[in-house]
Amino acid sequence: MTLLQEAIDRIEVLVEQARNSQLREPMASSFATVDEQGRPSVRTLLLKKVDERGLVFFTNVHSRKGHHLDANPFAAVCVYYQEAHQQFQVEGPVEPITDDEADAYWQTRPRASQIGAYASHQSEVLTDRTLLQARVSKYEEQFTGMDIPRPPHWSGYRVIPERIEFWAGHPDRLNQRELYILKDGQWIKELLYP
Ligand SMILES: Cc1cc2nc3c(=O)[nH]c(=O)nc-3n(C[C@H](O)[C@H](O)[C@H](O)COP(=O)(O)O)c2cc1C
Repeated sequence: MTLLQEAIDRIEVLVEQARNSQLREPMASSFATVDEQGRPSVRTLLLKKVDERGLVFFTNVHSRKGHHLDANPFAAVCVYYQEAHQQFQVEGPVEPITDDEADAYWQTRPRASQIGAYASHQSEVLTDRTLLQARVSKYEEQFTGMDIPRPPHWSGYRVIPERIEFWAGHPDRLNQRELYILKDGQWIKELLYP
């Protein structure tokens, strides 16, 4: 097993444990991007797929984060599991997923979420919430009786891991930090002081 596969397996174990402990959103992550001026911002996103190729999430590509990723295609992801007192972090470049991948996931979305993806100009100013409801009604009417195609502004991105760190709480704050990092094309594993 490669070190990357080992790290991804560890993430999967953490997610599975969280799922078994009835956590509402076991894949909810703090997701940081950087704008064109180098200023960071962070928001919660649901990770939808985790494997050796990376971490996939879905969003509106015209959102604030979408603009950040256009200007600066790198991200940092952090997930903390309070019950387990463990955290994982992933950093690396971000690339758009393929249309086929986006279409496949789109088709699994509930119809109301699909309508919402059309109705929401994510991250733009909404002067009145009735406008949002009106847009929902408009698209419900437009798509009556038919499958809803994926709009071009709704897709996914993949964070390609170059750095993966696991943190585990230990007594007396002698916490454990294990770093998997890609150096000169090779994954290596190191411990870090807490
Ligand atoms: C639990 C939770 C899950 C979320 N999942 C997503 C998601 O998967 N995709 C998404 O675009 N926004 C998601 N959001 C909303 C984002 O946090 C954020 O408000 C939105 O993406 C706009 O961010 P931006 O203006 O930085 O682009 C989620 C919020 C919460 C609290």
